[in-house]
Amino acid sequence: MDLEKLLADRLAPAFARVAGAPVDPVVRRSARADFQSDAALALARRLGRPPRAVAAEVLAHADLADVCRVTEVSGPGFVNLTVADDTLAELVLALATDPRLGVPVAAEPETVVVDYSAPNVAKEMHVGHLRSTVIGDAAARLLEWLGHRVLRANHLGDWGTPFGMLIEHLVDLGGAEAARTLSMGDLDSFYQAARGKFDADEAFRERSRRRVVALQGGDEATLRLWRLLVRQSERYFLTVYDLLDVTLTERDFHGESSYNDLLGPVVEDLDRLGLLRDSDGASCVFPPGQVGRDGEPLPLIVRKSDGGYGYPATDLAAIRHRTGTLGATRLLYVVGLPQRRHFDMVYAAAAQAGWLAAPARAEHVGFGSILGADGRMLRSRAGGSVKLVGLLEEAIARATALARQRNPELGEAEAAEVGRAVGIGAIKYADLSSDRHKDYVLDWERMLSLDGDTAPYLQYAYARIRSIFRRAGETAGPAAAISLAEPAERALALALVGFGTVVGEVADGLEFHQLTGYLYRLAAAFSSFYERCPVLRADGPVRDGRLVLCDLTARVLRQGLYVLGIRTPDRL
Ligand code: ARG
Repeated sequence: MDLEKLLADRLAPAFARVAGAPVDPVVRRSARADFQSDAALALARRLGRPPRAVAAEVLAHADLADVCRVTEVSGPGFVNLTVADDTLAELVLALATDPRLGVPVAAEPETVVVDYSAPNVAKEMHVGHLRSTVIGDAAARLLEWLGHRVLRANHLGDWGTPFGMLIEHLVDLGGAEAARTLSMGDLDSFYQAARGKFDADEAFRERSRRRVVALQGGDEATLRLWRLLVRQSERYFLTVYDLLDVTLTERDFHGESSYNDLLGPVVEDLDRLGLLRDSDGASCVFPPGQVGRDGEPLPLIVRKSDGGYGYPATDLAAIRHRTGTLGATRLLYVVGLPQRRHFDMVYAAAAQAGWLAAPARAEHVGFGSILGADGRMLRSRAGGSVKLVGLLEEAIARATALARQRNPELGEAEAAEVGRAVGIGAIKYADLSSDRHKDYVLDWERMLSLDGDTAPYLQYAYARIRSIFRRAGETAGPAAAISLAEPAERALALALVGFGTVVGEVADGLEFHQLTGYLYRLAAAFSSFYERCPVLRADGPVRDGRLVLCDLTARVLRQGLYVLGIRTPDRL
Protein backbone atom coordinates (compact mmCIF):
# COMPACT_ATOMS: atom_id res chain seq x y z
CA MET A 1 0.00 0.00 0.00
CA ASP A 2 1.45 3.38 -0.83
CA LEU A 3 1.56 6.13 1.73
CA GLU A 4 -0.48 8.69 -0.21
CA LYS A 5 -3.30 6.20 -0.40
CA LEU A 6 -2.98 5.14 3.21
CA LEU A 7 -3.20 8.75 4.37
CA ALA A 8 -5.96 9.63 1.93
CA ASP A 9 -7.99 6.67 3.20
CA ARG A 10 -7.62 7.96 6.74
CA LEU A 11 -8.50 11.55 5.87
CA ALA A 12 -11.45 10.77 3.60
CA PRO A 13 -13.99 9.89 6.33
CA ALA A 14 -13.07 13.05 8.28
CA PHE A 15 -13.50 15.21 5.20
CA ALA A 16 -16.79 13.50 4.40
CA ARG A 17 -18.03 14.22 7.90
CA VAL A 18 -17.13 17.91 7.74
CA ALA A 19 -18.40 18.32 4.17
CA GLY A 20 -21.48 16.15 4.47
CA ALA A 21 -20.43 14.53 1.19
CA PRO A 22 -17.41 12.61 -0.14
CA VAL A 23 -14.30 14.75 -0.77
CA ASP A 24 -11.03 13.65 -2.38
CA PRO A 25 -8.34 14.61 0.19
CA VAL A 26 -5.67 14.97 -2.58
CA VAL A 27 -2.65 13.96 -0.51
CA ARG A 28 0.69 15.00 -2.01
CA ARG A 29 4.35 14.90 -1.05
CA SER A 30 5.40 18.16 0.49
CA ALA A 31 8.62 19.93 1.36
CA ARG A 32 7.27 21.22 4.68
CA ALA A 33 6.04 17.99 6.21
CA ASP A 34 6.11 14.57 4.58
CA PHE A 35 2.70 15.04 3.02
CA GLN A 36 0.13 17.72 2.57
CA SER A 37 -3.56 17.90 1.72
CA ASP A 38 -4.97 21.16 0.39
CA ALA A 39 -8.51 19.92 -0.03
CA ALA A 40 -9.72 21.99 2.94
CA LEU A 41 -9.23 25.18 0.92
CA ALA A 42 -11.75 24.29 -1.77
CA LEU A 43 -14.09 22.80 0.77
CA ALA A 44 -14.00 25.97 2.90
CA ARG A 45 -14.89 28.05 -0.13
CA ARG A 46 -17.84 25.78 -0.77
CA LEU A 47 -19.00 25.91 2.85
CA GLY A 48 -18.33 29.64 3.17
CA ARG A 49 -16.17 29.06 6.27
CA PRO A 50 -12.59 30.01 7.23
CA PRO A 51 -10.23 27.42 5.68
CA ARG A 52 -8.02 26.99 8.75
CA ALA A 53 -11.07 26.18 10.84
CA VAL A 54 -12.23 23.60 8.30
CA ALA A 55 -8.74 22.06 8.20
CA ALA A 56 -8.63 21.90 12.00
CA GLU A 57 -12.03 20.26 12.15
CA VAL A 58 -10.97 17.66 9.58
CA LEU A 59 -7.87 16.88 11.63
CA ALA A 60 -9.93 16.61 14.81
CA HIS A 61 -12.05 13.90 13.18
CA ALA A 62 -9.25 12.07 11.39
CA ASP A 63 -7.96 8.82 12.77
CA LEU A 64 -4.22 9.28 12.17
CA ALA A 65 -2.64 8.68 15.56
CA ASP A 66 -1.11 5.32 14.69
CA VAL A 67 0.39 6.38 11.36
CA CYS A 68 1.47 9.99 11.91
CA ARG A 69 3.93 11.52 14.30
CA VAL A 70 2.75 15.10 13.72
CA THR A 71 -0.44 16.45 12.19
CA GLU A 72 -1.04 20.17 11.92
CA VAL A 73 -2.80 22.93 10.09
CA SER A 74 -0.44 25.24 8.26
CA GLY A 75 -0.53 28.33 6.05
CA PRO A 76 -3.93 29.32 4.68
CA GLY A 77 -5.44 25.92 5.61
CA PHE A 78 -3.22 23.07 4.54
CA VAL A 79 -3.23 19.83 6.46
CA ASN A 80 0.39 18.79 7.06
CA LEU A 81 1.21 15.21 7.92
CA THR A 82 4.47 13.77 9.20
CA VAL A 83 4.51 10.00 9.13
CA ALA A 84 5.53 7.98 12.19
CA ASP A 85 8.87 6.24 11.85
CA ASP A 86 7.33 2.87 12.75
CA THR A 87 4.85 3.15 9.94
CA LEU A 88 7.57 4.09 7.49
CA ALA A 89 9.87 1.30 8.65
CA GLU A 90 7.08 -1.23 8.30
CA LEU A 91 6.36 -0.10 4.76
CA VAL A 92 10.05 -0.35 3.83
CA LEU A 93 10.25 -3.87 5.27
CA ALA A 94 7.18 -4.86 3.28
CA LEU A 95 8.75 -3.43 0.11
CA ALA A 96 11.96 -5.34 0.72
CA THR A 97 10.20 -8.66 0.19
CA ASP A 98 7.90 -7.41 -2.58
CA PRO A 99 9.20 -8.40 -6.01
CA ARG A 100 6.99 -5.66 -7.51
CA LEU A 101 8.44 -2.95 -5.30
CA GLY A 102 5.07 -1.60 -4.27
CA VAL A 103 3.68 -1.43 -7.78
CA PRO A 104 0.55 -3.56 -8.08
CA VAL A 105 -0.44 -5.39 -11.23
CA ALA A 106 -3.34 -3.59 -12.97
CA ALA A 107 -6.66 -4.54 -11.42
CA GLU A 108 -8.26 -4.58 -14.86
CA PRO A 109 -5.68 -5.53 -17.47
CA GLU A 110 -6.42 -4.07 -20.87
CA THR A 111 -5.31 -4.71 -24.41
CA VAL A 112 -3.28 -1.65 -25.33
CA VAL A 113 -1.99 -0.85 -28.80
CA VAL A 114 1.09 1.35 -28.78
CA ASP A 115 1.55 2.90 -32.22
CA TYR A 116 5.13 4.14 -32.32
CA SER A 117 8.34 4.63 -34.25
CA ALA A 118 6.65 4.43 -37.68
CA PRO A 119 9.43 5.59 -39.99
CA ASN A 120 8.90 5.75 -43.72
CA VAL A 121 10.21 3.17 -46.17
CA ALA A 122 13.13 4.21 -48.35
CA LYS A 123 13.76 7.18 -46.13
CA GLU A 124 16.24 7.66 -43.36
CA MET A 125 14.89 7.70 -39.79
CA HIS A 126 15.24 11.19 -38.42
CA VAL A 127 15.31 12.54 -34.90
CA GLY A 128 11.51 12.90 -34.79
CA HIS A 129 11.30 9.13 -35.13
CA LEU A 130 13.79 8.93 -32.28
CA ARG A 131 11.37 10.60 -29.88
CA SER A 132 8.50 8.41 -30.98
CA THR A 133 10.61 5.28 -30.63
CA VAL A 134 12.00 6.17 -27.22
CA ILE A 135 8.72 7.37 -25.68
CA GLY A 136 6.68 4.61 -27.28
CA ASP A 137 9.03 1.92 -26.09
CA ALA A 138 8.89 3.25 -22.54
CA ALA A 139 5.08 3.19 -22.71
CA ALA A 140 5.08 -0.38 -23.99
CA ARG A 141 7.54 -1.56 -21.32
CA LEU A 142 5.67 0.19 -18.52
CA LEU A 143 2.21 -1.04 -19.44
CA GLU A 144 3.49 -4.56 -19.97
CA TRP A 145 5.10 -4.52 -16.55
CA LEU A 146 1.74 -3.44 -15.11
CA GLY A 147 0.17 -6.57 -16.57
CA HIS A 148 -1.53 -5.17 -19.64
CA ARG A 149 -1.51 -6.98 -22.96
CA VAL A 150 0.58 -4.67 -25.09
CA LEU A 151 0.53 -4.82 -28.88
CA ARG A 152 3.31 -2.83 -30.50
CA ALA A 153 2.26 -1.35 -33.82
CA ASN A 154 5.00 0.01 -36.02
CA HIS A 155 2.83 1.90 -38.51
CA LEU A 156 5.48 1.98 -41.19
CA GLY A 157 4.93 4.44 -44.05
CA ASP A 158 5.10 1.77 -46.73
CA TRP A 159 2.28 2.72 -49.09
CA GLY A 160 0.97 5.58 -51.17
CA THR A 161 1.95 7.77 -54.08
CA PRO A 162 5.71 8.15 -53.37
CA PHE A 163 6.11 4.47 -54.22
CA GLY A 164 5.40 5.16 -57.88
CA MET A 165 8.54 7.25 -58.20
CA LEU A 166 10.59 5.06 -55.86
CA ILE A 167 9.84 1.92 -57.87
CA GLU A 168 10.46 3.65 -61.22
CA HIS A 169 13.78 4.91 -59.91
CA LEU A 170 14.62 1.39 -58.80
CA VAL A 171 13.75 0.08 -62.26
CA ASP A 172 16.10 2.68 -63.80
CA LEU A 173 18.88 1.46 -61.53
CA GLY A 174 18.41 -2.13 -62.64
CA GLY A 175 15.41 -3.43 -60.69
CA ALA A 176 15.61 -6.28 -58.22
CA GLU A 177 19.39 -6.56 -58.38
CA ALA A 178 19.75 -2.89 -57.51
CA ALA A 179 17.38 -3.21 -54.56
CA ARG A 180 19.48 -5.95 -53.04
CA THR A 181 22.61 -3.84 -53.18
CA LEU A 182 20.84 -0.69 -52.05
CA SER A 183 23.15 0.27 -49.27
CA MET A 184 21.22 0.98 -46.16
CA GLY A 185 23.04 4.10 -45.17
CA ASP A 186 21.92 5.41 -48.56
CA LEU A 187 18.19 5.47 -48.11
CA ASP A 188 17.98 9.20 -48.16
CA SER A 189 20.05 9.66 -51.29
CA PHE A 190 17.92 7.01 -53.00
CA TYR A 191 14.81 8.91 -52.04
CA GLN A 192 16.29 12.28 -53.00
CA ALA A 193 17.38 10.97 -56.42
CA ALA A 194 13.88 9.67 -57.12
CA ARG A 195 12.39 12.94 -55.96
CA GLY A 196 14.80 14.93 -58.15
CA LYS A 197 13.78 13.02 -61.26
CA PHE A 198 10.12 13.32 -60.36
CA ASP A 199 10.38 17.09 -60.05
CA ALA A 200 12.43 17.57 -63.23
CA ASP A 201 11.17 15.02 -65.72
CA GLU A 202 7.59 14.87 -67.03
CA ALA A 203 8.05 11.44 -68.62
CA PHE A 204 9.31 10.06 -65.31
CA ARG A 205 6.33 11.63 -63.55
CA GLU A 206 3.96 9.92 -65.96
CA ARG A 207 5.69 6.55 -65.46
CA SER A 208 5.48 7.05 -61.69
CA ARG A 209 1.75 7.71 -61.88
CA ARG A 210 1.16 4.58 -63.91
CA ARG A 211 3.32 2.66 -61.45
CA VAL A 212 1.14 3.72 -58.50
CA VAL A 213 -1.91 2.45 -60.32
CA ALA A 214 -0.14 -0.85 -61.05
CA LEU A 215 0.90 -1.13 -57.39
CA GLN A 216 -2.57 -0.49 -56.07
CA GLY A 217 -4.05 -2.76 -58.70
CA GLY A 218 -1.91 -5.61 -57.38
CA ASP A 219 0.40 -6.02 -60.40
CA GLU A 220 2.72 -8.87 -59.40
CA ALA A 221 5.96 -7.53 -60.93
CA THR A 222 5.39 -4.16 -59.29
CA LEU A 223 4.55 -5.71 -55.94
CA ARG A 224 7.78 -7.70 -56.09
CA LEU A 225 9.86 -4.55 -56.45
CA TRP A 226 7.84 -2.82 -53.77
CA ARG A 227 8.40 -5.72 -51.38
CA LEU A 228 12.14 -5.52 -51.97
CA LEU A 229 12.19 -1.86 -51.03
CA VAL A 230 10.11 -2.50 -47.92
CA ARG A 231 12.17 -5.52 -46.90
CA GLN A 232 15.47 -3.66 -47.22
CA SER A 233 14.16 -0.72 -45.23
CA GLU A 234 12.76 -2.97 -42.52
CA ARG A 235 16.09 -4.71 -42.23
CA TYR A 236 17.76 -1.36 -41.81
CA PHE A 237 15.25 -0.15 -39.21
CA LEU A 238 15.83 -3.33 -37.22
CA THR A 239 19.54 -2.55 -37.01
CA VAL A 240 18.66 0.88 -35.63
CA TYR A 241 16.28 -0.66 -33.06
CA ASP A 242 19.01 -3.03 -32.04
CA LEU A 243 21.47 -0.19 -31.57
CA LEU A 244 18.87 1.80 -29.70
CA ASP A 245 18.00 -1.18 -27.53
CA VAL A 246 14.26 -0.96 -27.98
CA THR A 247 11.82 -3.86 -27.80
CA LEU A 248 10.41 -3.50 -31.33
CA THR A 249 10.87 -6.59 -33.46
CA GLU A 250 10.12 -7.82 -36.94
CA ARG A 251 6.70 -9.01 -35.77
CA ASP A 252 5.67 -5.47 -34.87
CA PHE A 253 5.78 -4.08 -38.40
CA HIS A 254 2.18 -3.31 -39.30
CA GLY A 255 2.73 -0.86 -42.10
CA GLU A 256 0.09 1.27 -43.77
CA SER A 257 -0.10 -1.30 -46.59
CA SER A 258 -1.40 -3.95 -44.20
CA TYR A 259 -4.68 -2.04 -43.96
CA ASN A 260 -5.14 -1.90 -47.71
CA ASP A 261 -7.86 -4.55 -47.88
CA LEU A 262 -9.76 -2.87 -45.07
CA LEU A 263 -10.02 0.53 -46.79
CA GLY A 264 -12.92 -0.47 -49.08
CA PRO A 265 -15.06 -1.76 -46.20
CA VAL A 266 -14.26 1.36 -44.16
CA VAL A 267 -15.61 3.60 -46.90
CA GLU A 268 -18.65 1.37 -47.37
CA ASP A 269 -19.43 1.50 -43.66
CA LEU A 270 -19.06 5.27 -43.53
CA ASP A 271 -21.30 5.57 -46.54
CA ARG A 272 -23.93 3.26 -45.10
CA LEU A 273 -23.90 5.30 -41.88
CA GLY A 274 -24.55 8.41 -43.95
CA LEU A 275 -21.30 10.03 -42.80
CA LEU A 276 -19.73 10.63 -46.22
CA ARG A 277 -20.07 13.91 -48.04
CA ASP A 278 -18.68 14.99 -51.34
CA SER A 279 -16.23 17.88 -51.34
CA ASP A 280 -14.65 18.78 -54.69
CA GLY A 281 -14.96 15.20 -55.83
CA ALA A 282 -13.40 13.74 -52.69
CA SER A 283 -15.38 11.66 -50.17
CA CYS A 284 -15.09 13.26 -46.76
CA VAL A 285 -16.30 12.95 -43.20
CA PHE A 286 -16.99 16.18 -41.34
CA PRO A 287 -16.50 15.18 -37.70
CA PRO A 288 -18.60 17.24 -35.29
CA GLY A 289 -16.72 19.93 -33.40
CA GLN A 290 -13.81 20.00 -35.84
CA VAL A 291 -13.72 23.44 -37.39
CA GLY A 292 -11.00 25.54 -38.96
CA ARG A 293 -9.92 29.05 -38.00
CA ASP A 294 -12.72 30.46 -40.13
CA GLY A 295 -15.29 28.44 -38.20
CA GLU A 296 -16.03 26.23 -41.20
CA PRO A 297 -16.30 22.46 -40.58
CA LEU A 298 -13.09 20.66 -41.52
CA PRO A 299 -13.16 17.70 -43.88
CA LEU A 300 -11.33 14.46 -43.22
CA ILE A 301 -10.60 13.15 -46.69
CA VAL A 302 -11.34 9.46 -46.80
CA ARG A 303 -11.14 8.93 -50.55
CA LYS A 304 -9.41 11.38 -52.82
CA SER A 305 -10.99 12.64 -56.04
CA ASP A 306 -8.75 10.26 -58.04
CA GLY A 307 -10.25 7.34 -56.09
CA GLY A 308 -7.10 6.73 -54.02
CA TYR A 309 -7.03 6.45 -50.26
CA GLY A 310 -4.64 8.42 -48.09
CA TYR A 311 -3.21 8.65 -44.60
CA PRO A 312 -6.54 9.41 -42.81
CA ALA A 313 -8.36 6.45 -44.37
CA THR A 314 -5.56 4.14 -43.28
CA ASP A 315 -5.75 5.42 -39.73
CA LEU A 316 -9.52 4.90 -39.68
CA ALA A 317 -9.04 1.34 -40.89
CA ALA A 318 -6.35 0.81 -38.25
CA ILE A 319 -8.67 1.97 -35.45
CA ARG A 320 -11.48 -0.27 -36.66
CA HIS A 321 -9.04 -3.18 -36.74
CA ARG A 322 -7.48 -2.41 -33.36
CA THR A 323 -10.73 -2.12 -31.44
CA GLY A 324 -12.88 -4.50 -33.48
CA THR A 325 -10.49 -7.33 -34.33
CA LEU A 326 -7.71 -7.01 -31.77
CA GLY A 327 -10.08 -6.06 -28.94
CA ALA A 328 -7.95 -3.14 -27.76
CA THR A 329 -9.49 -0.64 -25.35
CA ARG A 330 -6.59 1.79 -25.12
CA LEU A 331 -4.98 3.10 -28.31
CA LEU A 332 -1.83 5.15 -27.93
CA TYR A 333 -0.37 7.18 -30.78
CA VAL A 334 3.16 8.30 -30.09
CA VAL A 335 3.50 10.86 -32.84
CA GLY A 336 4.77 14.45 -33.01
CA LEU A 337 2.50 17.30 -31.95
CA PRO A 338 2.13 18.67 -35.51
CA GLN A 339 -0.16 15.69 -36.19
CA ARG A 340 -2.52 16.54 -33.33
CA ARG A 341 -5.25 17.85 -35.63
CA HIS A 342 -5.04 14.77 -37.82
CA PHE A 343 -5.59 12.50 -34.83
CA ASP A 344 -8.37 14.61 -33.33
CA MET A 345 -10.20 14.37 -36.65
CA VAL A 346 -9.58 10.65 -37.03
CA TYR A 347 -10.70 9.87 -33.45
CA ALA A 348 -13.82 11.97 -33.88
CA ALA A 349 -14.71 10.27 -37.16
CA ALA A 350 -14.02 6.81 -35.71
CA ALA A 351 -16.21 7.61 -32.72
CA GLN A 352 -19.01 8.71 -35.04
CA ALA A 353 -18.73 5.46 -36.94
CA GLY A 354 -18.89 3.49 -33.69
CA TRP A 355 -15.35 2.10 -33.94
CA LEU A 356 -14.11 3.96 -30.92
CA ALA A 357 -16.74 3.55 -28.24
CA ALA A 358 -16.25 3.35 -24.45
CA PRO A 359 -14.46 1.69 -22.82
CA ALA A 360 -12.17 2.03 -25.84
CA ARG A 361 -10.39 5.34 -26.18
CA ALA A 362 -7.49 6.80 -28.13
CA GLU A 363 -4.78 9.09 -26.82
CA HIS A 364 -2.33 11.14 -28.80
CA VAL A 365 0.95 10.89 -26.91
CA GLY A 366 2.33 13.96 -28.67
CA PHE A 367 5.79 15.43 -28.38
CA GLY A 368 7.79 18.47 -29.41
CA SER A 369 10.97 18.74 -31.45
CA ILE A 370 14.62 18.16 -30.66
CA LEU A 371 16.58 21.37 -31.04
CA GLY A 372 20.26 22.00 -31.66
CA ALA A 373 22.49 24.09 -29.39
CA ASP A 374 21.38 27.18 -31.33
CA GLY A 375 17.80 26.60 -30.22
CA ARG A 376 16.66 25.78 -33.75
CA MET A 377 15.50 22.49 -35.24
CA LEU A 378 18.41 20.07 -35.14
CA ARG A 379 20.21 20.11 -38.50
CA SER A 380 23.34 18.47 -39.84
CA ARG A 381 26.34 20.62 -40.77
CA ALA A 382 25.23 20.45 -44.37
CA GLY A 383 21.85 21.76 -43.31
CA GLY A 384 19.96 18.50 -43.89
CA SER A 385 18.04 16.59 -41.24
CA VAL A 386 20.22 14.75 -38.76
CA LYS A 387 20.49 11.03 -39.26
CA LEU A 388 19.43 9.08 -36.23
CA VAL A 389 22.24 6.54 -36.55
CA GLY A 390 24.90 9.25 -36.62
CA LEU A 391 23.49 10.65 -33.41
CA LEU A 392 23.47 7.27 -31.66
CA GLU A 393 26.99 6.47 -32.77
CA GLU A 394 28.22 9.77 -31.47
CA ALA A 395 26.56 9.17 -28.11
CA ILE A 396 28.15 5.73 -27.82
CA ALA A 397 31.60 7.01 -28.82
CA ARG A 398 31.47 9.84 -26.30
CA ALA A 399 30.26 7.55 -23.51
CA THR A 400 32.87 4.88 -24.28
CA ALA A 401 35.65 7.45 -24.08
CA LEU A 402 34.22 8.65 -20.80
CA ALA A 403 34.03 5.12 -19.39
CA ARG A 404 37.67 4.39 -20.36
CA GLN A 405 38.84 7.61 -18.82
CA ARG A 406 36.97 7.08 -15.56
CA ASN A 407 37.79 3.46 -15.14
CA PRO A 408 41.02 2.41 -16.88
CA GLU A 409 40.62 -1.08 -15.43
CA LEU A 410 37.67 -1.86 -17.68
CA GLY A 411 38.62 -4.35 -20.40
CA GLU A 412 37.97 -3.52 -24.06
CA ALA A 413 34.74 -5.51 -24.25
CA GLU A 414 33.41 -4.20 -20.98
CA ALA A 415 34.23 -0.60 -21.88
CA ALA A 416 32.34 -1.03 -25.14
CA GLU A 417 29.38 -2.54 -23.32
CA VAL A 418 29.35 0.22 -20.71
CA GLY A 419 29.79 2.87 -23.40
CA ARG A 420 26.75 1.56 -25.19
CA ALA A 421 24.61 1.39 -22.08
CA VAL A 422 25.62 4.88 -20.99
CA GLY A 423 25.51 6.52 -24.44
CA ILE A 424 22.12 5.12 -25.40
CA GLY A 425 20.89 5.64 -21.86
CA ALA A 426 21.94 9.29 -21.98
CA ILE A 427 20.06 9.89 -25.23
CA LYS A 428 16.91 8.20 -24.00
CA TYR A 429 17.03 9.90 -20.63
CA ALA A 430 17.54 13.35 -22.12
CA ASP A 431 14.42 12.75 -24.16
CA LEU A 432 12.27 11.19 -21.45
CA SER A 433 13.24 13.68 -18.76
CA SER A 434 11.98 16.59 -20.84
CA ASP A 435 8.30 17.42 -20.66
CA ARG A 436 7.28 15.76 -23.91
CA HIS A 437 4.91 18.57 -24.87
CA LYS A 438 7.88 20.89 -25.20
CA ASP A 439 10.88 21.07 -27.50
CA TYR A 440 14.22 20.25 -25.93
CA VAL A 441 17.80 21.11 -26.71
CA LEU A 442 20.21 18.30 -27.40
CA ASP A 443 23.17 19.09 -25.17
CA TRP A 444 25.95 16.47 -25.12
CA GLU A 445 27.79 17.89 -22.13
CA ARG A 446 24.71 17.97 -20.00
CA MET A 447 23.28 14.61 -20.92
CA LEU A 448 26.56 12.77 -20.33
CA SER A 449 27.29 14.60 -17.11
CA LEU A 450 27.82 12.38 -14.07
CA ASP A 451 26.20 14.78 -11.70
CA GLY A 452 22.86 16.10 -12.67
CA ASP A 453 19.51 14.82 -13.80
CA THR A 454 21.05 12.37 -16.27
CA ALA A 455 21.20 8.67 -17.07
CA PRO A 456 24.90 8.38 -16.17
CA TYR A 457 24.20 9.83 -12.72
CA LEU A 458 21.52 7.21 -12.06
CA GLN A 459 23.56 4.42 -13.59
CA TYR A 460 26.47 5.48 -11.43
CA ALA A 461 24.30 5.40 -8.29
CA TYR A 462 23.22 1.90 -9.22
CA ALA A 463 26.78 0.70 -9.86
CA ARG A 464 27.90 2.19 -6.58
CA ILE A 465 25.35 0.12 -4.69
CA ARG A 466 26.40 -2.99 -6.56
CA SER A 467 29.94 -2.33 -5.47
CA ILE A 468 28.86 -2.08 -1.84
CA PHE A 469 27.43 -5.57 -2.11
CA ARG A 470 30.54 -6.84 -3.88
CA ARG A 471 32.62 -5.53 -1.02
CA ALA A 472 30.22 -6.88 1.57
CA GLY A 473 30.40 -10.27 -0.12
CA GLU A 474 26.75 -10.79 0.73
CA THR A 475 23.30 -9.88 -0.40
CA ALA A 476 20.85 -7.96 1.73
CA GLY A 477 19.47 -10.47 4.15
CA PRO A 478 16.03 -10.17 5.67
CA ALA A 479 16.31 -7.40 8.23
CA ALA A 480 14.36 -7.61 11.45
CA ALA A 481 14.03 -3.84 11.69
CA ILE A 482 14.95 -0.66 9.87
CA SER A 483 16.39 2.17 11.87
CA LEU A 484 15.32 5.56 10.60
CA ALA A 485 17.03 7.57 13.30
CA GLU A 486 19.19 9.52 10.85
CA PRO A 487 17.29 12.12 8.80
CA ALA A 488 19.06 10.89 5.66
CA GLU A 489 17.83 7.34 6.28
CA ARG A 490 14.33 8.59 6.79
CA ALA A 491 14.42 10.70 3.62
CA LEU A 492 15.62 7.72 1.59
CA ALA A 493 12.91 5.50 3.06
CA LEU A 494 10.28 8.06 2.21
CA ALA A 495 11.53 8.26 -1.37
CA LEU A 496 11.52 4.47 -1.72
CA VAL A 497 7.92 4.00 -0.63
CA GLY A 498 6.82 6.58 -3.22
CA PHE A 499 7.66 4.46 -6.27
CA GLY A 500 4.17 2.95 -6.63
CA THR A 501 2.43 6.33 -6.63
CA VAL A 502 4.67 7.73 -9.34
CA VAL A 503 4.36 4.66 -11.52
CA GLY A 504 0.58 4.80 -11.24
CA GLU A 505 0.54 8.43 -12.36
CA VAL A 506 2.88 7.79 -15.26
CA ALA A 507 0.78 4.86 -16.44
CA ASP A 508 -2.16 7.24 -16.77
CA GLY A 509 -0.58 10.35 -18.23
CA LEU A 510 2.52 8.87 -19.91
CA GLU A 511 4.54 11.85 -18.71
CA PHE A 512 7.82 10.06 -18.28
CA HIS A 513 9.60 13.08 -16.86
CA GLN A 514 7.66 12.38 -13.67
CA LEU A 515 9.40 9.02 -13.43
CA THR A 516 12.86 10.39 -14.28
CA GLY A 517 12.31 13.17 -11.73
CA TYR A 518 11.41 10.60 -9.12
CA LEU A 519 14.44 8.41 -9.89
CA TYR A 520 16.69 11.43 -9.77
CA ARG A 521 15.37 12.44 -6.35
CA LEU A 522 15.77 8.87 -5.17
CA ALA A 523 19.40 8.73 -6.34
CA ALA A 524 20.07 12.08 -4.70
CA ALA A 525 18.50 10.85 -1.46
CA PHE A 526 20.70 7.78 -1.67
CA SER A 527 23.74 9.90 -2.20
CA SER A 528 23.09 11.96 0.94
CA PHE A 529 22.35 8.81 2.88
CA TYR A 530 25.57 7.20 1.76
CA GLU A 531 27.60 10.25 2.71
CA ARG A 532 26.19 10.41 6.20
CA CYS A 533 25.38 6.85 7.12
CA PRO A 534 28.14 4.25 7.06
CA VAL A 535 26.77 0.93 5.81
CA LEU A 536 29.44 -1.74 5.99
CA ARG A 537 31.08 -0.17 9.02
CA ALA A 538 27.83 -0.07 10.98
CA ASP A 539 26.98 -2.84 13.45
CA GLY A 540 24.38 -5.53 13.63
CA PRO A 541 20.80 -4.44 13.10
CA VAL A 542 21.72 -0.95 11.88
CA ARG A 543 23.95 -2.45 9.21
CA ASP A 544 21.23 -4.97 8.21
CA GLY A 545 18.69 -2.17 7.92
CA ARG A 546 21.00 0.00 5.85
CA LEU A 547 21.82 -2.88 3.55
CA VAL A 548 18.10 -3.29 2.96
CA LEU A 549 17.82 0.40 2.08
CA CYS A 550 20.75 0.04 -0.33
CA ASP A 551 19.33 -3.06 -1.94
CA LEU A 552 15.87 -1.53 -2.33
CA THR A 553 17.33 1.61 -3.86
CA ALA A 554 19.23 -0.46 -6.41
CA ARG A 555 16.16 -2.49 -7.27
CA VAL A 556 13.94 0.55 -7.71
CA LEU A 557 16.57 2.29 -9.82
CA ARG A 558 17.02 -0.79 -11.95
CA GLN A 559 13.29 -1.34 -12.47
CA GLY A 560 12.62 2.34 -13.10
CA LEU A 561 15.41 2.57 -15.63
CA TYR A 562 14.32 -0.70 -17.23
CA VAL A 563 10.91 0.84 -17.84
CA LEU A 564 12.64 3.76 -19.53
CA GLY A 565 14.64 1.35 -21.68
CA ILE A 566 17.93 2.18 -19.95
CA ARG A 567 20.43 -0.47 -18.91
CA THR A 568 22.13 -0.62 -15.54
CA PRO A 569 25.66 -2.04 -15.81
CA ASP A 570 27.09 -3.47 -12.60
CA ARG A 571 30.18 -1.30 -12.80
CA LEU A 572 30.93 1.93 -14.60
N1 ARG B 1 4.90 7.56 -40.75
C1 ARG B 1 4.39 8.73 -40.11
C2 ARG B 1 5.45 9.83 -40.09
O1 ARG B 1 6.62 9.56 -40.27
C3 ARG B 1 3.96 8.47 -38.69
C4 ARG B 1 2.85 7.48 -38.52
C5 ARG B 1 2.21 7.58 -37.17
N2 ARG B 1 1.16 6.61 -36.91
C6 ARG B 1 -0.05 6.63 -37.41
N3 ARG B 1 -0.90 5.67 -37.09
N4 ARG B 1 -0.47 7.58 -38.21
O2 ARG B 1 5.10 10.98 -39.88
